[in-house]
Formats: sequence, C-alpha cells, structure tokens
Amino acid sequence: MEPLTTSEALEKPAIRIESHLGEAEERSLAEDVLDGLTRPFKELPPKHFYDSRGAELFDRICELPEYYPTRAERTILTQSADEIARLTAAVELVELGSGTAAKTRVLLDALHTAGTLRRYVPVDVTESMVRACARELTGEYPGLEVHGVIGDFERHLDRVPPATGPRIVAFLGGTIGNFPPGSRRRVLREIAHLLGPGDHLLMGTDLVKDPNVLEAAYDDAQGVTAEFNRNVLRVLNRELDADFDPDDFEHVALFDREHEWIEMRLRSRREHTTLVRELDLCVHFDAGEELRTEISAKFTPERLEGDLATAGLSLVRWLTDPDGLFALTLSRRAELS
Ligand SMILES: C[S@@+](CC[C@H](N)C(=O)[O-])C[C@H]1O[C@@H](n2cnc3c(N)ncnc32)[C@H](O)[C@@H]1O
Repeated sequence: MEPLTTSEALEKPAIRIESHLGEAEERSLAEDVLDGLTRPFKELPPKHFYDSRGAELFDRICELPEYYPTRAERTILTQSADEIARLTAAVELVELGSGTAAKTRVLLDALHTAGTLRRYVPVDVTESMVRACARELTGEYPGLEVHGVIGDFERHLDRVPPATGPRIVAFLGGTIGNFPPGSRRRVLREIAHLLGPGDHLLMGTDLVKDPNVLEAAYDDAQGVTAEFNRNVLRVLNRELDADFDPDDFEHVALFDREHEWIEMRLRSRREHTTLVRELDLCVHFDAGEELRTEISAKFTPERLEGDLATAGLSLVRWLTDPDGLFALTLSRRAELS
C-alpha cells in the first residue's frame, strides 16, 4: 500500500484519540486498593505508578546507567528493524503500553523507509503520553495517521481499531514481565486475538542474568527508581484521598531466585495506620511490613517459547543484543500460519 500523499493527509484528520478511562478507571484503582491492601501480604498492581509524574520518572529510569533494558532493547531494534519491516510489510503498528514511544521511532523509521507505514495506534493508560506522542509523531512522519487509545490493555483490547492491512502489535519494555505466570498467559492469549493471518506480535522481554546486575537496575544510586516506587502512594493520596506519607516507606528491590523475577516493595519504616477516605478504609502497617508494588519476570528462551505456545503463538524470530541481556521475539498466531 502506498503511503498517504500530503494532500490526502491534509484532507484526512491525522490524529484521532479515544479515551476509555474515567469513572471505570477510578473504580479499578479503588477495587485494586481494596483488594490489595486488605490481604495478609499487601500488594498493588504496577499500572497505578503511571500518572504523568510516574511516566516522567519512568523516562528518567530509562536513562540511568544501571537500567540496561532500554539500551539493550534499542540496540536490538536498531540491528533488526529493517528485517522486521521486510518480514512483516506492516502498514500499521499497534503499541501496547506505548509510553513516550521513544524506541518505537526506530521501528517507525524502518517501516516508513520501506514505504508501508500508514497508521500508528498507541494504547496506554497515561493520557498525556498518548496525546503528546500523537502530536509529535504526526509531525515527524508526514502522512502518518495516529489513532490513540487511552485505555487499559487488560480491559480495552476490544477498542483497538480493526486492522487496515498487515500489522505489528508491539509490546516493548519488558512490560509483559509485570504479570505473574497465570495472568501473563491470559494477557498473551488476549493479545494474540488482535492478530490476523498477516500480523505479528513483537514483544520485548528481559532475560535471566546475574542477580547483582538485576537488583542494581531496580535500585539505582540516584534513587530515581525509589521515587518512582513511592509515587504510587502519591497517586492513592490524590485519587482516593488517602494520607500516606511516602517518606514512611523505604524502597526495596530484590531478585526472587525461585520465581526468577524482580520484586519491588515498599517497606514501612514504622508502625502506623493510614486512612483511605474514599474507601472508608484503615490500613495498618507494622514496622518493617512490606507492600509489593511490582514484579518484573526475567525469562529464559525455553520459558518464553512455552508462554508464547500456550497463547497459541509460534516464534518467527528470536532477536537478542550482543551481550544477551534482553530479547525481542517476533511471533504469529500458530493456527493462522
Ligand atoms: C515499563 S513502561 C514501558 C514503556 C515503553 N513501552 C518502553 O518500552 O519504554 C510501561 C508502560 O505501559 C503503560 N501501562 C502499564 N500498565 C498498563 C495497562 N494495564 N494498560 C495500558 N497501559 C499500561 C504505562 O503507562 C507505561 O507507559
């Protein structure tokens, strides 16, 4: 398919944004807090880190010397983008958890150069990110249409617009690792259903490695990751009228060798009780008690291929960086191949 000409681009609105968040999202935060903070081992899902401050902090994390995943994934993309463009001939790129789409440009460049790129569909819970990246990308790629979906990829995949031709669904940054094994397979199965016969999933996953390297990546010397971790408490204060003092909590990052995942936790420095007014909920913390805020699973090639197979996906390419730190996989729906 030919890229849009400038006159076509002027006639067609290049940006369309749909938001599926709002009251329902507030409900989901409230449900997650009610469920997670009343368990014997307290826990919150990581998607609530990402208000606009959380998204900015994550961007700073990506630049940190200890945080190798972003650099490694970018290296793989740079090495392989032309091959991916050739193999997929994609006219559109759907990106789940798109953030600032910083690395995505490498892929967009390759598809643009190949002359196939027409549409980019970023899907993210952070509204400001989706809007900013739609503005920037339509400026950077003449003729590109952006159909932004402000939503939760666990609940709103049915709002992703129908494909207009062969597409890549990209799920970068190792975000799939934030799900424990059971829900990871469910999410992967749901994502697989976005794929038609000519479509591919391009997914970034972090690999198992020296625990010291892993732990340093989630506990940097400048304390940016600690601030990102505590940001979830600020989100609860603002959205649910809670009265957490983020300084009451210390950042903890540890590699769980049995499950092969990093856990980020917030450890209460003192015994105290917090009130979450919107939920009429008192939450008691013992001194030293920990609240789990994120898991980030690290993969072996075997485990990843097993997860893909369980989701009905078959591997087309396994791509890694020269140091073998991170992997990008290109896969397709097995039954459609
Ligand atoms: C680890 S960051 C990765 C960002 C970017 N893809 C990258 O590779 O640098 C996770 C991104 O996913 C978004 N996100 C997390 N959970 C989400 C969910 N359930 N639905 C939609 N977006 C989500 C966050 O807002 C954030 O932009």
